[in-house]
Amino acid sequence: METQKLIIHFILLLLIPCSSSFTPIDNYLLNCGSQNNASLFNRIFMSDSTNQGSTFLSADKSISLINRNPHADLHTLYHTARVFPSTGSYKFSLRKNGTHFVRFHFSPFKAQGFDLTSANFSVLVDGNLVLTNFKPGSGALLKEFILKVGSNFLEIVFRPEGNLGFGFVNAMEVFTAPDDFVIDYGTRLVGPFGVVEYKNLSYQVLETIHRINVGGVKVTPFNDSLWRTWIPDEGFLVFKDAAKPVVSTHTPNYQKGGATREIAPDNVYMTAQEMNKDRSIIASQFNITWDFPVAPGGVRHLVRLHFSDIVSRALSLLYFDVYINGYSAYKDLDLSSLAFHVLASPVYVDFVTDSDDLGVIRISVSPSELSSSRGMNAILNGAEVMKLVNVVDSHVVHRKKRLWVLLVGSIVGGVVILLLVIAAFLLALKCRKKKKKPKQRAVENVGWTPLRFYGGSSLSRLSEGTALNSPGSYGYFGLRIPFADIQSATNNFDRSLIIGTGGFGMVYKGVLKDNVKVAVKRGMPGSRQGLPEFQTEITILSKIRHRHLVSLVGYCEENSEMILVYEYVEKGPLKKHLYGSGRNEPLSWKQRLEICIGAARGLHYLHTGFARGIIHRDIKSTNILLDENHVAKVADFGLSRSGPCIDETHVSTGVKGSFGYLDPEYFRRQQLTDKSDVYSFGVVLFEVLCARPAVDPQLDREQVNLAEWALAWQKKGMLEHIIDPYLVGKIKQSSLKKFGETAEKCLAEYGVDRPTIGAVLWNLEYALQLQETDQEGESYDDSSALEPVNVTTTIIPEGPSCNIRREGDNDNGYSDMSATEVFSQLMNTEGR
Ligand SMILES: *[C@@H]1O[C@H](CO)[C@@H](O)[C@H](O)[C@H]1NC(C)=O
Ligand SMILES: *[C@@H]1O[C@H](CO)[C@@H](O)[C@H](O)[C@H]1NC(C)=O
Ligand SMILES: *[C@@H]1O[C@H](CO)[C@@H](O)[C@H](O)[C@H]1NC(C)=O
Ligand SMILES: *[C@@H]1O[C@H](CO)[C@@H](O)[C@H](O)[C@H]1NC(C)=O
Ligand SMILES: *[C@@H]1O[C@H](CO)[C@@H](O)[C@H](O)[C@H]1NC(C)=O
Ligand SMILES: *[C@@H]1O[C@H](CO)[C@@H](O)[C@H](O)[C@H]1NC(C)=O
Repeated sequence: METQKLIIHFILLLLIPCSSSFTPIDNYLLNCGSQNNASLFNRIFMSDSTNQGSTFLSADKSISLINRNPHADLHTLYHTARVFPSTGSYKFSLRKNGTHFVRFHFSPFKAQGFDLTSANFSVLVDGNLVLTNFKPGSGALLKEFILKVGSNFLEIVFRPEGNLGFGFVNAMEVFTAPDDFVIDYGTRLVGPFGVVEYKNLSYQVLETIHRINVGGVKVTPFNDSLWRTWIPDEGFLVFKDAAKPVVSTHTPNYQKGGATREIAPDNVYMTAQEMNKDRSIIASQFNITWDFPVAPGGVRHLVRLHFSDIVSRALSLLYFDVYINGYSAYKDLDLSSLAFHVLASPVYVDFVTDSDDLGVIRISVSPSELSSSRGMNAILNGAEVMKLVNVVDSHVVHRKKRLWVLLVGSIVGGVVILLLVIAAFLLALKCRKKKKKPKQRAVENVGWTPLRFYGGSSLSRLSEGTALNSPGSYGYFGLRIPFADIQSATNNFDRSLIIGTGGFGMVYKGVLKDNVKVAVKRGMPGSRQGLPEFQTEITILSKIRHRHLVSLVGYCEENSEMILVYEYVEKGPLKKHLYGSGRNEPLSWKQRLEICIGAARGLHYLHTGFARGIIHRDIKSTNILLDENHVAKVADFGLSRSGPCIDETHVSTGVKGSFGYLDPEYFRRQQLTDKSDVYSFGVVLFEVLCARPAVDPQLDREQVNLAEWALAWQKKGMLEHIIDPYLVGKIKQSSLKKFGETAEKCLAEYGVDRPTIGAVLWNLEYALQLQETDQEGESYDDSSALEPVNVTTTIIPEGPSCNIRREGDNDNGYSDMSATEVFSQLMNTEGR
């Protein structure tokens, strides 16, 4: 017998690590009011009244109630109940504090003079009032709460309400949630004010209201590692015809940092609703919309949306917008970037919003204006709606607990006072030191928030470790990188690793501990751009991540160093691939168009995305980098400034930017708008087409300035005479025409006459489409393209004087000579 037992144990031990399912550290399942164990979905609910069970039950004047005539279909778990005629409680000791699931099973019956449907009671979990004057209906009901427990025990109190009230419960579950099930960063608070970050979500008590497997079938606790039930979405769809269910046969490609099976099971990520393209031609219904009934009147809810791109055949085809209660909640959601550039890899995004007066939360997805006409689609795989339980009743905390707190308080208090004295002393010392180093102090005052973006919750997990590929070493505030790590990454700033110089300082190539290649920008003490740029860059970059924007990996501000660490972009600046000694294999026209489209997308995100209204201010071919697949990434936000406020139309600021790319209007009037970026982008477009620098002082006077020169040819309708010789005969007439017109419009003298970057993006995609369609020379419908602009004679800023460094001289690209430098030179020469 003993050996048999041993063998079984051994087998069990072998099995446990193999099973990928989640095992909670604390896992209490109680069959309340029963002497027996009951099994539900392969889980054993233990009696709450036997020896081991009763250790949970305290203040026991409760009654075990047994239904002698249960309905044949009713599970044995619901044949018994524990009834509380007076206040009673359960206490659970926890091996791990933190976020827990607490579930109550209610299934009223009549027995021994009790009619459980007439119960009236409140429930407190860890001092939080989660159910108030609660009266379960007649059917079975599961109530689920998710909350953070701070201590190593959890108390659940049942408190009868009213004269004849009593409490009851049939079964209970208390178990540890997976790590990071609810996280504090990246949640988007959505409302009439727009989208802002919602902090400290994990400190809220959540009550599950809806859990939906969109486009799929019901998922039972059997198939869910947290024993949840997910129901189909059909009943919630507003226009059924707008949606079409999709099912994938492949298991999801779970990525480190993304969603996990515990966030939602395979079944949820393997099904979705997509746009029913046959029907949705009716423009007014170009939305898939679900209405979820919730508590009315501005009650705050968490909306967790699950996504996995199971509809696209390739990456970067799917861009869609998410609306919650009619408010834009996530614009231009790019599932490829969000999901680590892997198809069918699950992610989720958390939103917090208030219910409307009718008690509805309305969720819509619709194709973004960024999606190409072929890729127009929008999807949703799963949705969870949870109420943020308003914790109001605090006087009910048990007196015992209060005493405890008092006792602990006085002990802790003494220690705290001691610590405070020490802290004050240290602070005084530090302040004295800091007075000598005011710079460092200023850096510490930067309103620092960890990298997150787009507010994607999976992304926050990503940014807090895995994406930076260093969960342990850099921890939750993963962006701060120790100076020592940067030293070793760059071989102590080895000069042979320098890949660029700029106003800010040197740029080194480096490899972090975890083999992540990075570009390390080290600010020189007293560097020209200096501290304000460093702070701007951190503040802005911390808010932004996009496939077409170079992302910040971390920063360092130790030893009065100012260091920014970026992702390393393999193929370097676009400029290097266009002309000069660095150019190896010329880029094809299609590649160039795709690069311009990518850069326009990045810029469009800056102008209109989550971080809304950022003007880059220094768009040029050296600030557009190419990765190993020639995907364009816009770099160097060091000169960025937040865009205009609502009541202002421009930002007035000192002239910055690079010569040859500078908006003439900005130059004259010192007024900066997003249209200044559009101008610079127009110069880049001609640079890409003509493969020559924006400014080349060695050329004849009329050719020095590319914008001026190319515009002249464009207006003559003879642009093909000045294109990159390599491209001659390779561009279709219609594509070139569209491209030339687009660039021309970008270079309109007045900002108001220039298109938005979104329109530029659209036109570039059109140019690409024209290049790719077979019918050469076919006239195209221009109605949806840019409004024709009457371009008057363009006044280009004064040609450069000869002492300006030639644009092509500096090959590094991470930062070029900035206009501040140029202008100071100009002013010096002109002043004479
Ligand atoms: C209930 O299950 C527990 C643990 O699985 C076990 O120790 C106990 O003996 C069982 N009790 C009954 C009455 O079967
Ligand atoms: C919660 O658990 C952590 C880690 O075990 C421990 O350090 C902390 O003191 C606990 N908090 C409380 C309030 O018990
Ligand atoms: C439950 O008790 C509360 C508190 O006394 C009372 O206000 C409420 O009306 C009762 N509810 C029902 C349905 O009896
Ligand atoms: C978030 O929680 C932390 C820790 O409890 C607290 O210090 C901070 O003030 C909270 N922030 C907000 C915005 O509630
Ligand atoms: C759920 O699990 C059961 C048992 O493992 C399996 O037979 C069934 O097909 C699963 N259901 C779904 C929808 O995957
Ligand atoms: C989609 O729905 C949102 C909000 O319900 C609305 O603002 C938007 O205009 C709709 N989009 C389309 C294309 O109908």
